[in-house]
Amino acid sequence: MMITEMVEGFAYKEALSIYEKLICGATCFYLVGLAFLEVSGKHLQYSKFSNSGASKSRIPSKIGMLFIYTPALFAGVASFWVFPGGGIRFLMLKSAVTIHFLKRDLEVLFLHKFSGFFGVESAVIIAATYFTAAAGFVYFHHQTEGLPEPSVDLKYFGVLLSLIGLSGNFYHHYLLSKLRKNNNKGYDIPRGGLFNLVICPHYLFEITTFVGFSFISQTIFTYVCAVGVAFYLSARSYATRKWYISKFENFPTNVKALIPYVF
Ligand SMILES: NC(=O)c1ccc[n+]([C@@H]2O[C@H](COP(=O)([O-])OP(=O)(O)OC[C@H]3O[C@@H](n4cnc5c(N)ncnc54)[C@H](OP(=O)(O)O)[C@@H]3O)[C@@H](O)[C@H]2O)c1
Repeated sequence: MMITEMVEGFAYKEALSIYEKLICGATCFYLVGLAFLEVSGKHLQYSKFSNSGASKSRIPSKIGMLFIYTPALFAGVASFWVFPGGGIRFLMLKSAVTIHFLKRDLEVLFLHKFSGFFGVESAVIIAATYFTAAAGFVYFHHQTEGLPEPSVDLKYFGVLLSLIGLSGNFYHHYLLSKLRKNNNKGYDIPRGGLFNLVICPHYLFEITTFVGFSFISQTIFTYVCAVGVAFYLSARSYATRKWYISKFENFPTNVKALIPYVF
């Protein structure tokens, strides 16, 4: 009983309809399912794994990346008009979601140096996922209006985590972009920052950002998405480390996948 009360203190007491419960359950099932597919070798086809499936329909990575992030960015921007007001917490959430997807579009346009292609089916799946997440964050938070605040207020800690996540993610994207000079399209072992300890530090910071979103909002849907993203990116980082080990004989085995010294 004590534990239930403690856990309840971290979230709004939402009266979810059967459909809203289904959306939360399906989102969790779907993201964990994608994680299992990554571990079993059935990858979403972008970046290093863009050639891993049977799909022949592919678009340049830059176009694919813009295609997956832009609808979610629109959802973030539109939230300011569709749901004006709503207090400081809602304003923080709408801003955090919009800034996150704007940052990703800007990185795609001006920072990343891509070498390949994006599978069209994967692009459609990921664009729909991001849009659902962004729109869902806003929708579910809007539903909490009028409810008592959770007894443990995590919103400022959430903003801090989001900022740490955004900047750490950006920094490691910057290090990756420095690996490719003079239009070189090959792959090298990344170094610097947390790359000396894990091969996917940018994923670790992405998870931090999503945990930050969930702490800002404190709704079931945002918690479900944070856990789902953590599962998916853990699996993708595991597959990525395997990929590096298969391509580079000198890959340092002390460099883990996602969590320094642990995994
Ligand atoms: N929220 C989620 O569920 C989720 C899921 C996946 C990704 N993401 C976000 O998307 C970001 C990028 O993900 P990603 O999977 O595309 O990352 P990634 O595979 O590491 O690629 C990022 C960029 O770095 C380049 N790159 C990667 N490894 C390289 C190497 N060894 N040498 C030279 N260049 C290299 C890639 O080029 P190529 O394209 O040519 O490989 C690409 O331009 C993540 O940090 C995260 O923010 C979020």
